[in-house]
Amino acid sequence: MNAPETPVLKAAEFRKVSALAREKFGLNLPEGKEGLVAARLAKRIREGQFRGFEEYFRYVTAEPSGEALMALIDSLTTNHTAFFREPAHFDFLRERATGEFRDSPSLRIWSAACSSGEEPYTIAMTLLEAASQTPCRWADDLHILASDISTRVLEKARAGVYEAERLDKMPEERRRAFLLKGNGARQGWFKLKPAVRNLVQFERINLIEPLPRRTFSFIFCRNVLMYFDHSTQQAIVARLVECLEPGGYFFVGHSETLHGIEHSLSYVRPATYVKARRRRA
Ligand SMILES: C[S@@+](CC[C@H](N)C(=O)[O-])C[C@H]1O[C@@H](n2cnc3c(N)ncnc32)[C@H](O)[C@@H]1O
Repeated sequence: MNAPETPVLKAAEFRKVSALAREKFGLNLPEGKEGLVAARLAKRIREGQFRGFEEYFRYVTAEPSGEALMALIDSLTTNHTAFFREPAHFDFLRERATGEFRDSPSLRIWSAACSSGEEPYTIAMTLLEAASQTPCRWADDLHILASDISTRVLEKARAGVYEAERLDKMPEERRRAFLLKGNGARQGWFKLKPAVRNLVQFERINLIEPLPRRTFSFIFCRNVLMYFDHSTQQAIVARLVECLEPGGYFFVGHSETLHGIEHSLSYVRPATYVKARRRRA
């Protein structure tokens, strides 16, 4: 059987997707990404048995529940993530949580583009390990908010079930402490223990829409800013900084930077920033 052909996206069609992605999600699909967009949309067009791009696009923009739009955006972004990805941030979190935050009565952390959950669960494991080694006042009042725009990845994240190969690099001791190994039909899968899962609350939040009116000691905004154009990045960072308590930390991905974005944070180390503490009167 021949592999299905990827339809060629005409320039005008690409502009339409690109404008929609920008308007609804702040996504930046610059010229030159036509091939990638065409390849990603091809599957949707085939699966939905649409006659071509125009028909698919009409359906997406008219479908009232917004599900089709969500599915489109799912295919345009990448959800790549991993447990303990870019581990320096988790070492830093552990160090600060058991240092300057040790006597805080509570700790609130936000993983603001959490994909399928590996990042917030890594935060939970890091802090559980930290509190088991160093008594910390926040240990009884620890909450992790994990959000993403994609309902598909959030569903996977909520389930907290992962294929064994996603845990390959995790030391055996950590795996035993925090995960349950599946048997029988669940062979080859692991499930996070309730002690980890219950620390994380998942919500669907689009970063270009109004953000929660809550404050956090640490915000992880990693490997997502790169999808947005400069003005959207600027607006998102400004609003996320409002959600950060004074003295709180802000993380971006290690291949990202706040360079070129106006903000009130101070640089701490690569991909790590801090919000100034309020001066005493
Ligand atoms: C590459 S993943 C990053 C996952 C994780 N933060 C990490 O670094 O491993 C990017 C995530 O950003 C999400 N995303 C894209 N646009 C978004 C938006 N406007 N609001 C919230 N999340 C968004 C995608 O759905 C995807 O799950």
